[in-house]
Amino acid sequence: SSADPVMVHFINRDGERLTTTAKKGESLLEVVVNQNLAIDGFGACEGTLACSTCHLIFEKDVFQKLDAISDEEMDMLDLAYGLTETSRLGCQVRIKKFMDGMTVQVPVEVSDIRSQLEVGKQS
Ligand code: FES
Repeated sequence: SSADPVMVHFINRDGERLTTTAKKGESLLEVVVNQNLAIDGFGACEGTLACSTCHLIFEKDVFQKLDAISDEEMDMLDLAYGLTETSRLGCQVRIKKFMDGMTVQVPVEVSDIRSQLEVGKQS
């Protein structure tokens, strides 16, 4: 039915697979928060498109079916480390039925714009 949970696998930075269920309409950030997934520093700006710590890498077939990216998401995504052709920001992607069983990869390197500025000051 339409209320069926959608299964999502996250590959964490250390390579560990976190499998969880999500509800349709939840953002991937909400999935991480609601399911209490141990992904360090994920979603630092709480979905306000100000950090890019929610960067996720999608499988190509899933990526191609995602809703179009907004200019705001594109601008923030551009600042993410390790950007790939199938990267999106998890706070902007909402769970849909076709995503059942998908695997998303948490990039090894994360950039929180705010901490990047700090690092810049030190070097
Ligand atoms: Fe900060 Fe997605 S949580 S941009």
